[in-house]
Amino acid sequence: MHKILVTGGAGFIGSHTCTALLENGYEIVVVDNLSNSSRKALERVRIICGINEDTGASTSPANSRLVFHECDLLDQEALAQIFAQYEIEAVIHFAAFKAVGESVEKPLAYYRNNLQGTINLCEQMAKHGVKKIVFSSSATVYGVPDSVPIAETAPLRCTNPYGWTKFMCEQIPRDFANADIARSVALLRYFNPIGAHPSGLIGEDPRGIPNNLLPYVLRVAAGQYPQVNIYGQDYPTPDGTGIRDYIHVVDLAAGHVSALKYIDRHTGTEAFNLGTGNGYSVLEIIQAMEKACGCPIPYQITERRPGDAAEGYADNTLARLKLGWIAQYGIDEMCRDAWNWQQKNPRGYENASV
Ligand SMILES: NC(=O)c1ccc[n+]([C@@H]2O[C@H](COP(=O)([O-])OP(=O)(O)OC[C@H]3O[C@@H](n4cnc5c(N)ncnc54)[C@H](O)[C@@H]3O)[C@@H](O)[C@H]2O)c1
Repeated sequence: MHKILVTGGAGFIGSHTCTALLENGYEIVVVDNLSNSSRKALERVRIICGINEDTGASTSPANSRLVFHECDLLDQEALAQIFAQYEIEAVIHFAAFKAVGESVEKPLAYYRNNLQGTINLCEQMAKHGVKKIVFSSSATVYGVPDSVPIAETAPLRCTNPYGWTKFMCEQIPRDFANADIARSVALLRYFNPIGAHPSGLIGEDPRGIPNNLLPYVLRVAAGQYPQVNIYGQDYPTPDGTGIRDYIHVVDLAAGHVSALKYIDRHTGTEAFNLGTGNGYSVLEIIQAMEKACGCPIPYQITERRPGDAAEGYADNTLARLKLGWIAQYGIDEMCRDAWNWQQKNPRGYENASV
């Protein structure tokens, strides 16, 4: 059987998508250099999906439904070997650096990792006749939008190097598809993925101080940090705090299965917003999390951050109509599952036996 290559499959969104793929009968080869993840995430994916074979790079049986290779996409030789070893049907490309603040400090590392990794991958795809790719893009490519909800046709403009890598990386598979009419590409622009698998076995495990709001709120709820900093309460929104579209990571994972099916039937390139279409303010997120964890979450208001939009939420019409995808979970389930993950894994995957 042909396999789906999942780059960055040990990461937050990748591990949930691996679960969804296995549950939908796909066989997968995961490539990850574990620079921002743990192999335990994949062991837990196996537990969720009831897969009992051994893990491990070279020892993995080629006929396993989930094979893992610890491999850096910048290592062209290692990547070439993987493409030579398996019959790859399609690629889902998550592997990238993703921290906005870090990208401002280390822009070249971000451009090298995210762009070169994507180029190396497309080169191997071309060499081995692999014609289908789903690419992890981000709503960050819309920068500060002119209006909401944001449709895929909105102007693209970025406010930080991470965003620019997503903008530039979108163009690589797009041109890859332009060069051969049999190729097909889905560019998935995620809004703000949060939550965790309802089992509490896999979830977001940021290294160091979390960049995103929800993992930070979780750590405050767990008593690991004293308070949440809210960047600006003077935006033109009902409560003055920034509004974003949060999406349950399990819904996002399902969107990848829908996108894979779509590119199986269509050629060319199409971009899709994956968001619920609902906006929640920072204060509403804090309140929803207080409800989920049953404790108050202290916060303080600080200055706005440059580059932050007042509000951003998705027009998800295209994903609904063309992918047949629709988000199932609301904000309460997102907070419930995130809190369940936090409680069961207070230090993430660190020190866990499996
Ligand atoms: N989490 C978000 O808020 C968000 C929002 C929009 C888009 N995205 C995009 O979705 C994708 C997945 O994000 P995530 O939140 O799961 O991040 P993550 O850091 O948890 O996952 C990325 C994975 O890629 C791996 N990786 C990075 N560089 C690699 C390389 N050169 N070779 C092999 N593996 C490499 C990391 O070890 C990690 O496991 C990324 O492309 C990210 O830019 C994320």
